[in-house]
Amino acid sequence: MSAKIIDGNALAREVRAEWKTRAERLIEQGVQPGLAVIIVGSNPASSIYVRSKAKACDETGIYSEIHDFPESASQDEVIQRIQELNRAPRIHGILVQLPLPNHFESRKVIEAITVEKDVDGFHLYNVGALVTGNTVFPPCTPFGVMKMLEKSGIAIEGRHAVVVGRSNIVGKPMALMLLEKGATITICTSKTHNLAEHTRRADILVVATGKPRMITADMVKPGATVIDVGINRMPDGKLTGDVDFESVKEKAGYLTPVPGGVGPMTITMLLCNTIAAAERTQARV
Ligand code: GUN
Repeated sequence: MSAKIIDGNALAREVRAEWKTRAERLIEQGVQPGLAVIIVGSNPASSIYVRSKAKACDETGIYSEIHDFPESASQDEVIQRIQELNRAPRIHGILVQLPLPNHFESRKVIEAITVEKDVDGFHLYNVGALVTGNTVFPPCTPFGVMKMLEKSGIAIEGRHAVVVGRSNIVGKPMALMLLEKGATITICTSKTHNLAEHTRRADILVVATGKPRMITADMVKPGATVIDVGINRMPDGKLTGDVDFESVKEKAGYLTPVPGGVGPMTITMLLCNTIAAAERTQARV
């Protein structure tokens, strides 16, 4: 059996078109959704992500600003800028690109973002809201995975979902979102003993470990849905996921590719959260 490949680019186009209409409605009312992205230092991967976020905003009718700080910037300076952006009426979403340089306490910087503009969903308030099932801004990558499952007609309730990875950005919120939809959850890490015994029990397997091709066909249940969140740059310059695509595609029922799978959905959900943040300001007037 060959897996159905979930086309993240096509799904992202579909979701962006739906939300572009919502952005246009706001613009007609005199409110253009606005996103501010803060980047500190010159991590090349972060610079690429930030530029693609700004481009995607442009294509969706969202105003965007990039606030670029040198590696030597102080934490106070960045927090002061966040406080200004918290008050800026043109800005509805604020995102601080991670990782920050080592002399920063990321938690303090993220907590400086007002909850209403925390479109990454990383502020402790929004994390708490996710735990209690009252999520305001779901973190973009797991939100994108949930959208992919929904758009592909993959049932969640009552099924066994295994998440490999325990990061605050993907693994933990992913498990909570699947749990909220009624899945039975197992959370593993790349260090879990007998990992294959757990992954082979997954109806839905989500992998976010940053270890290239660590999930091989023998670790997958026939017909399972396999979502690959990894993006690893190989020595030959090619991108590859955490799943061994070639072998797993012969075993899984559904599979996401890298690139062109979860990546485009992550940016899409950031656009959705920014437009939703702007809609909320309208609902308050
Ligand atoms: N770095 C890697 N992923 C993310 C993300 O989703 N948001 C932010 N702000 N930084 C990241």
